[in-house]
Amino acid sequence: MPDRRKFLKRAGYTTLSALLTMGFLQKDKQKEDHSTNTLAANYTSTNGNSPLRQLAAAKGKRYGAAIDGEFLQIEKDYANLLARECSIVTPNGELKWNATEPQPGKFTFESADAIANFCQKHNMELHGHTLFWYTGNPPWVPYPPTLQMIERHLTGVMGHYRNSPVLKSWDVANEIIADNENETDNATYGLRKGVKPELIRDLFKIAASVDSSKKFCINEFGIEGATWKSDRFLKMVEYLKNSGVKIDEAGIQSHLWFSTAYAFDEKGFNSVLKRLNDLGVKPRISELDIIIDTPLPDSIKKLDQMVADSYKRYLDLCFAADVDTVITWGITDRHTWIRHPDWMPAKFKNNPSMQPFLRPLPLDTNLQPKLARNAIAQAFQ
Ligand code: G3I
Repeated sequence: MPDRRKFLKRAGYTTLSALLTMGFLQKDKQKEDHSTNTLAANYTSTNGNSPLRQLAAAKGKRYGAAIDGEFLQIEKDYANLLARECSIVTPNGELKWNATEPQPGKFTFESADAIANFCQKHNMELHGHTLFWYTGNPPWVPYPPTLQMIERHLTGVMGHYRNSPVLKSWDVANEIIADNENETDNATYGLRKGVKPELIRDLFKIAASVDSSKKFCINEFGIEGATWKSDRFLKMVEYLKNSGVKIDEAGIQSHLWFSTAYAFDEKGFNSVLKRLNDLGVKPRISELDIIIDTPLPDSIKKLDQMVADSYKRYLDLCFAADVDTVITWGITDRHTWIRHPDWMPAKFKNNPSMQPFLRPLPLDTNLQPKLARNAIAQAFQ
């Protein structure tokens, strides 16, 4: 398990945030009560209450969420909620290497298949996350794995889902770009230490040789603006395209932090979306959630308004660039990764009174819709 703080520093992500400093939320604050009421009223009205998957489909789009197989088995209300709202889901961990090939060459698909069956029953698509990652691996898998290990892994996992009626896409490569120039030995593509561009090219080639009928994605965090990282990511995507490998979509994870301390680079984000579209690699929003950084607002009501405004603002930009798939990283604050002890940011972990302010998802811990859900619904509409 990677060190939590290190991950979060890395995941210090391109921070959407400071709509506050930009005056965006200030302006919205003046109409806060009005918009809160409007949104709440909308939610109970016929349209606002329509399933997100239905609102999305009406515009030729898809809404989905990361799904946790463990809770799917034991929480019926959670399962019903996912079935109602989502047309696509990404398994939280069930398709990671440590889940599918815990011992060399010994494959297990019980938990992933349970999710695939759930998808089939509810007419949902399943996104395969992930075939290659720097973590989420059993201890015997080095990073990067050898080509031989990669070939056996992809043959086993992709082969199992070759004829699946629900699994239509794979994250072939996940989080391959370092966070800054000190963490790479490859200045051009900024790959994590030890990873060569040719290895990633061969990874995509192997994937295509096993099953080229699925969409192939490259998935990354911290690229939601014009940064060293997003520049290297785009160069890597361009390299893969120029190498002639099959690469269809780019997952822009979008674990976003709003605060007064950072600025959201709207122009830079637009240019990332544009460059991907120009390269013929369709951007999708693959792991969206919105955390409000310190200083926190003085009430949950204000926090929820900030989260909702942020969702709306971000999704409006995405939809203007023809993004058609939006997946949030979970659907309810009850199961958000950011509340898990392995991942909770230290400042929240050390201050239990702040933890209720970790509300990054569309529904609350009681599975009740929040303003964020209305904002997503409105953005789709
Ligand atoms: O499976 C055990 C369960 O049996 C036990 O009861 C529970 C106790 O805490 O732990 C469970 O394992 C956890 C596992 O998720 C399943 O929930 C691990 O401790 C936990 O560290 C693991 O974290 C996941 C992490 O990836 C590493 O695989 C997070 O839930 C998951 O949200 C996170 O997802 C990643 C994406 O794959 C890639 N992008 C970033 C994103 C957030 O970190």
